[in-house]
Amino acid sequence: MKALILCGGTGSRLQPITFTKAKQLIPVANKPVIYYAIEAMAKTGISEIGIIVGDVKSEVIQHVGNGRQWGVNISYIVQQEPLGLAHAVKVAQPFLKEEDFLMFLGDNLIWDGLERFIDQFYNKKMNALVVLSKVNDPQKYGVAVLENGDIVELVEKPKKYVSDMAIVGLYIFDKNIFSAIESIKPSWRNELEITDAIQEMVKRGYKVGYSELEKWWKDTGNPRDILEANQRMLDDISSRNDGIVDQHSVLQGKVIIGKDTKVVNSMIRGPAAIGEKNTIRDAYVGPYTAIDRECTIESAEVENSIIMENCAIINIKSRISDSLIGSNVEIISNDELPATASFVIGDKCKIKIK
Ligand code: TTP
Repeated sequence: MKALILCGGTGSRLQPITFTKAKQLIPVANKPVIYYAIEAMAKTGISEIGIIVGDVKSEVIQHVGNGRQWGVNISYIVQQEPLGLAHAVKVAQPFLKEEDFLMFLGDNLIWDGLERFIDQFYNKKMNALVVLSKVNDPQKYGVAVLENGDIVELVEKPKKYVSDMAIVGLYIFDKNIFSAIESIKPSWRNELEITDAIQEMVKRGYKVGYSELEKWWKDTGNPRDILEANQRMLDDISSRNDGIVDQHSVLQGKVIIGKDTKVVNSMIRGPAAIGEKNTIRDAYVGPYTAIDRECTIESAEVENSIIMENCAIINIKSRISDSLIGSNVEIISNDELPATASFVIGDKCKIKIK
């Protein structure tokens, strides 16, 4: 079995971060989202992984490489335009050939291992397996209508109730998905929809089964979900201190301090992960904060936030909370009078000031 991770797409809900960074590379608990998927795949023994990439191809290749660090081979497949999940599968056909494959949306995080789904796919001799999870707000998701253990219909964002079983971004297919994709047309949003292709497989009488997630999952498509995923992953860390923490600082709860990071006269209240080469001085870092690398947090307070690499947050009076801060950002106050604010900000940034 091969695997396919989808990292094309526009990521419009995560702009401005996605103007320069693939959303699948956003660090959650200081680890890019896509790493979690690759690790889970490597654990199943899958060794050939294809990654669908779009505009931000070179950055994905730079961060993920050839897969050697996970013991897998990674190939990159370019999707020229984000024309839908089924389109991505079609583009990957020369890589997948006639093999069965596991497909994972690169911006999703799941807590379950993948082995159980692969076993079910083979034990029940399925042509397609769709992973589902029960949700309270099915109108926001693609959902599956079930009958006698099989999927009979897939409905995108149902206006009236048909099922509360949402489609998680994880599927297994055999080669019959390709001919199903050939016969579908683009949807109203001009995308070849994977739900339409699966529906086509149902119509043609193929065995389309499902499996229910037992644990937590998250589609990290918007800032709130990324922060929630960060919380969930930080809840599971174990403390480690590879840096230098001076005697005036306090570490409370589960805290990771990376190599060459200095903590001076500061309070770090976990769960929190602070990567390598950061300086935290006269600062408070509160629960559910992940600070990537080479940042300076000085005379400032941060909590429940993701701060990406090489940022400076200095001399800020209000506590920074619930924030997603991209790489190379400076938030600095210099206490000079008159009290003015000056910004150099790119498109679509969101700043809330009190
Ligand atoms: P989505 O989150 O549905 O789409 P998007 O990435 O364009 O984001 P937004 O809605 O905020 O603009 O995509 C789910 C996953 O599938 C994501 O990892 C990107 C990937 N994808 C592709 O690889 N190719 C595509 O054509 C599309 C639409 C998505």
